[in-house]
Amino acid sequence: MEFRDVIRHRRMVRNYTDEPVDPAAVDRILETARRAPSAGHSQGQAFVVVTDAAIRQHIAELADEPAYVANGFDPWISRAPVHIVVCVSKHLYLERYSEPDKGGGPMGVESAWPVPYWWVDAGAALMLLLLAAVDEGLAAGFLGSHNMPDLKRVLSIPEHMDPIGIVTVGHAAPDRRSGSLGRGRRPLDEVVHRDRWRVHPE
Ligand SMILES: Cc1cc2nc3c(=O)[nH]c(=O)nc-3n(C[C@H](O)[C@H](O)[C@H](O)COP(=O)(O)O)c2cc1C
Repeated sequence: MEFRDVIRHRRMVRNYTDEPVDPAAVDRILETARRAPSAGHSQGQAFVVVTDAAIRQHIAELADEPAYVANGFDPWISRAPVHIVVCVSKHLYLERYSEPDKGGGPMGVESAWPVPYWWVDAGAALMLLLLAAVDEGLAAGFLGSHNMPDLKRVLSIPEHMDPIGIVTVGHAAPDRRSGSLGRGRRPLDEVVHRDRWRVHPE
C-alpha cells in the first residue's frame, strides 16, 4: 500500500470480526516496529504478543472493557484476536546513557533528562505497529489500562519494563466511532508555526 494511503486509512478501530489473523502478518508488523528509532539506539522497546483467548479476556477486564460496552462500544478488546502490549524500559536508557560515548554518567539518572525519551520511543514503536497493521490490510486500535501492575503480573513482564498500553489487531468490523472525534482534527495552520511561534490568527 502507498504510504499516503496507509496514513489515510489508519484510524483506531474498535471492533473486529472473528476471522483469525495470519501469524506471518503479525510477525511482519512486529518486524516493522523493531525498526522504530530510539534515543542513543537504546532499543528499550519490547512487545508482548497475546493470542490466547483467556489472557485477552483478562487484559480486556484490566482495561475496563465493561465500561466501553456500557458506553455503547462493542467488546472490542477481548474480541480482537491479537493484542500487542507495548513496553519500554527506562533503565535501558539510563544504562545506555551511562556509556562513554554518551557522556559516561550525567544522563544516567532520570532527573537529568529534559524529555524522558523512553516514552517518546515507545510512541514511535506504537505508531509503526498501527501503520504496519494497516499496510497488512488489518485494523488496529490502542488503549491504556489503569491497572498496569496487574497487567504486568498477568503477562510476567519484568519489573524494569513498563507497559504503555495495548494495541488491538484484527480484521475490521463495523464499529462505533469515538466521541473524541467530534473534536475534529486541528487545521494545519493552527498546529504549524513557521520561523517562530505565532498565535493564530494574527
Ligand atoms: C496515547 C494514546 C492513548 C489512547 N488511549 C485510548 C484509550 O484508552 N481508549 C480508546 O478507546 N482510545 C484511545 N486512544 C485513541 C484516541 O482516542 C484516537 O487516536 C483519537 O480519538 C483519534 O482518532 P483516530 O486515531 O481514529 O484518528 C488513544 C490514543 C493515543 C495516541
